[in-house]
Amino acid sequence: METEIFSAGQIDAAVNLLAKGELVAFPTETVYGLGALATNEEAVKQVYAAKGRPSDNPLIVTVADKEMMSHYVQEVSDRAEKLINHFWPGPLTILLKARPGSLPKAVTGGLATVALRCPDDQLTREMIAKLGSPIVGPSANTSTKPSPTTAQHVFHDLRGKIAGIIDGGPTKVGLESTIIDIAVKSPVVLRPGAITPEELSRVLGETVLINRGQVSDQEVPKAPGMKYRHYAPSAAVVVVDDAQDFAQINFDENTGVMALNAELTKLDLPAQNKFDLGNGLADADRNLFAGLRYFDDQSQIKQIFVQGFGGSEQTLAYMNRLNKAAAGHHFQVK
Ligand code: TXA
Ligand code: MG
Repeated sequence: METEIFSAGQIDAAVNLLAKGELVAFPTETVYGLGALATNEEAVKQVYAAKGRPSDNPLIVTVADKEMMSHYVQEVSDRAEKLINHFWPGPLTILLKARPGSLPKAVTGGLATVALRCPDDQLTREMIAKLGSPIVGPSANTSTKPSPTTAQHVFHDLRGKIAGIIDGGPTKVGLESTIIDIAVKSPVVLRPGAITPEELSRVLGETVLINRGQVSDQEVPKAPGMKYRHYAPSAAVVVVDDAQDFAQINFDENTGVMALNAELTKLDLPAQNKFDLGNGLADADRNLFAGLRYFDDQSQIKQIFVQGFGGSEQTLAYMNRLNKAAAGHHFQVK
């Protein structure tokens, strides 16, 4: 199959493909998603195949607005109203009790809940509105690879496997949405993202828990995707928690470094072994996955040292993704 690249002006072509049950990748403010008509079970199954994704890992349902989402949940609870009014469209995915029979089993993995998201991307919302039906929207990467933040990343992973990609340019946020479960006694963040537990707690007017627990393969995981290997380039990734430690590392042509510009300029390394994360945490969020992919495409790179950031709720999302890519491996001065 030839994978077509669509520009902003070609939304109608994408809508036609989706309506026919074809797969089209789309931009959001977080990362690119892999779209398929959520009500079409065959189309949804192809999403798992294209990504190489385990079939017990349910998919986010991406809607144009609150009205559209209301058809797929048992009720739009008070908590949901508050979150939607405050954060949508935006990088927040909300878990609610699903309306039985409203979506194929392949979407929810047979769970009683459904994950709903309304992205802050005008084009994508227009496309879903024209389609008149939600689309599933997992990240548009090959399973276990870093999520795609450009249309080129999607093309790299999925060319020949999907019908089209809408090119909306690089994404603004760069890390996937915050996922909050509000179908439980106390709301709980299952995946950290740009919207912090503190902000959620303020808007809800109640305590919001953070699910830090590592999910074992035996129990039923809360966000099933969190148990799988993730964001993993072929090279070994090492977190450098204290930027001063970069000076202690013995670099060679097989090592790559990802750090803020201020740190990188201190290091005497060939340009191709450096990846600039930018000038602060927001830049680092936006550039993390692109950096992992940059080194993944260079077969001589065996080890990637990546700057870590500690301390605040704002760094939770970045450190969550980085720790997964590094499989918990942190640099220690000998
Ligand atoms: O920012 C994002 O959320 C991006 C963009 C494309 O919208 N999408 C995304 O989807 O990150 P995905 O499939 O890569 O990650 C969704 C996560 C997975 O870990 C999945 O297990 C979890 O959400 N999930 C989906 N439905 C769920 C449900 N009903 N209950 C618990 N977890 C669910
Ligand atoms: Mg993903």
